[in-house]
Amino acid sequence: MKKTKIVVAYSGGLDTSVMVKWLMEKYDAEIITATGDLGQRKELAGVKEKAKKTGVAKVYVQDLTKEFVEQYIFPALKAGALYEKAYPMATSLGRPLLAKMLVDIARKEGATVVAHGCTGKGNDQVRFEVSVAALAPDLKVLAPLREWEFKSREEEIAYAKHHGIPVAATKASPYSIDENIWGTSIECGVLEDPMVEPPPDAYQRTVAPEEAPDKAVSISIDFELGIPVGLGGKKIDSVKLIHHLNDLGGMHGIGRIDLVENRLVGIKSREIYEAPAATILHFAHTELERLTLDKSVFHMKSQLAQEYANLVYNGLWYSPLREALDAFVNQTQKTVSGVVNVKLFKGNISIVGRTSPHSLYNTKLATYTTEDQFDHRASEGFIKIYGLPVKTFHQVQYGMNGTRKKGSRKAHRL
Ligand code: ARG
Repeated sequence: MKKTKIVVAYSGGLDTSVMVKWLMEKYDAEIITATGDLGQRKELAGVKEKAKKTGVAKVYVQDLTKEFVEQYIFPALKAGALYEKAYPMATSLGRPLLAKMLVDIARKEGATVVAHGCTGKGNDQVRFEVSVAALAPDLKVLAPLREWEFKSREEEIAYAKHHGIPVAATKASPYSIDENIWGTSIECGVLEDPMVEPPPDAYQRTVAPEEAPDKAVSISIDFELGIPVGLGGKKIDSVKLIHHLNDLGGMHGIGRIDLVENRLVGIKSREIYEAPAATILHFAHTELERLTLDKSVFHMKSQLAQEYANLVYNGLWYSPLREALDAFVNQTQKTVSGVVNVKLFKGNISIVGRTSPHSLYNTKLATYTTEDQFDHRASEGFIKIYGLPVKTFHQVQYGMNGTRKKGSRKAHRL
């Protein structure tokens, strides 16, 4: 009889290494590992060899960085999507693409099952499974970590040793770390106490602001249609641009985020994020929008940014709402082209200049000099009518001098 083929989302860490063997045994299955490169720089070293040593039938390592940047990160950047106004969602944005990779490989290999190494109390399981269900409803999804017998890391290591699975000889990090080009997510260990300041070793890609250079660095970012396309007037590939801003921002202590957030599964968790490029780009992009977007569009867009962030965080990337919001956002981005100058200094970003051919900033209207063309007299009538409802309300409820009228009936008191 032909063996069941299972495509496993594989990182090379302890959980997914043990998982491969566990699935082989439990289901007598043929395992295909799939590892997506989302621009994480160090994690992938040796992952192919590791997988092979575990005895899998086939190993895939796919570079998805460009697709990640252009099809997932940039739409979220254009939307201004920061979960709970803080988290740029490196992990959340990566999951739907990794799910798509699993589905693509399953199709190619004729596999009927996919598996992931997410735990039963996180957001990632939801993102994987909702995405797979959307893209390939016939595939079965397994989540071994939700059901297997291991209660601790030690038990997993013992199992690995027993089965000759290579596990890293280096002392395991006390943290759970997920990294890609858009940022690093760090949790567990002492970080679980929200009162404990993260120890220096929790941070992977940024220096502490107090240890950053004493001299500020200036950068000039070129945007076209809401997307960063160059630095200092020179066009640069999107992946390189983000790597460059990660390096530069990291050196200046930019993009450290310490967040108690609301998970989809109903708990609060404390997470540390490092996202230098994401922090710089979200900041600069919004500054350009302040210059080029009409007031009501800017206001509406910032409300929808939260909706957008919620749906990404909650695993609904492949939803009709995301497509509809993208259509709105893309319409607004038609004028979001121009240049933003920022300075990085000891963990801080400041805006120092912005310009755009679509700028709605009109010096002749804004100036307080003799060049002024604003019709000051028109303000008088405007204020009279604009303030009429407030004036009427106060007259009725509080009388002429702002205090409640004597004898106003209690039953009607507001
Ligand atoms: N809380 C974040 C999210 O849900 C990050 C999860 C990070 N995962 C990890 N294995 N460290 O997007």
